Amino acid sequence: MFKKIAMIGCALALATLTACGSGDGGGSKGSGGDKLVMGFAQVGAESGWRTANTKSVRESAKSAGIELKFSDAQQKQENQIKAIRSYIQQKVDVIAFSPVVETGWDAVLLEAKRAKIPVILTDRAVDSSDTSLYKTFLGSDFVEEGRKAGKWLTENTDGPAKVAEIQGTTGAAPAIDRQKGFKEAIAGKSDIRIVASQSGDFTRAGGKQVMEALLKSHPDINVVYAHNDDMGLGAIEAIKAAGKKPGTDIKIITVDAVKAGMQALADGEINYIVECNPLLGDQLMDLAKKVVKGEKVPERVVTEETAFTSEQAAKVLKDRKY
Ligand code: AHR
Repeated sequence: MFKKIAMIGCALALATLTACGSGDGGGSKGSGGDKLVMGFAQVGAESGWRTANTKSVRESAKSAGIELKFSDAQQKQENQIKAIRSYIQQKVDVIAFSPVVETGWDAVLLEAKRAKIPVILTDRAVDSSDTSLYKTFLGSDFVEEGRKAGKWLTENTDGPAKVAEIQGTTGAAPAIDRQKGFKEAIAGKSDIRIVASQSGDFTRAGGKQVMEALLKSHPDINVVYAHNDDMGLGAIEAIKAAGKKPGTDIKIITVDAVKAGMQALADGEINYIVECNPLLGDQLMDLAKKVVKGEKVPERVVTEETAFTSEQAAKVLKDRKY
């Protein structure tokens, strides 16, 4: 039913992939099987969210009977482009990827289109005027996440708020959109001001490093808005090391709601978390089956999400899946 894989060139193509590529499940079409084959180019392993997302994709592929070829780009766009080119050479049935940054994808996506391999964007979007380069985009509304974070702050400030924004990876959709939504929500509130904005690359180490520097350059910061839990947790370490109390001296708002973040929220060290759901695997596999069969799918599938206060986190923590 699916296209036959050409073995010639596979070894060569795989050799060009970065160290982290892997194939899950046996029985590929290349070895005589008849399974649908998905090439998945993951961003990296930068955060708790990403780890949960990778696990979800791997598990869902397995239970959907899809052979997954997986690569970890270590947060580098050139690695993701190499992985996608390798999947094209291997003639996989469908390519899914979460773009590290928004721009610079048209050329490689055009190669996939010419090879008649459908592409699904998952988690993050690309910034391209040619929407024919991909079939659908499954993931969160990052602007709305930023709005929720900003709205909470407008409703929970007691006096002037001097905000340090710790951004995600520069040029990544969630970094751009979470900033946009937050700014929209605080617009016109003269008692809330973003006094510093720096990238912590979505990692805990990055968040800690940025916060250490900001506490020196802006000692009067009393709010941190971190674009993910990991950076917020890194900021907490820096705040404690500076002799201040996270959650009290400095209010902290983050995005994701992974277990470690929710624990800090329940403990009062984070004040509010906007959820970003990483469990996209099942929906991704359903969409993949449909696009390979040539069925119509929605252009955009938005993930349902909520937000948590400290009290709410304490209630749901024990059942949290990631
Ligand atoms: O694209 C989703 C974002 O990427 C998550 O919020 C963050 O934790 C991850 O690194």
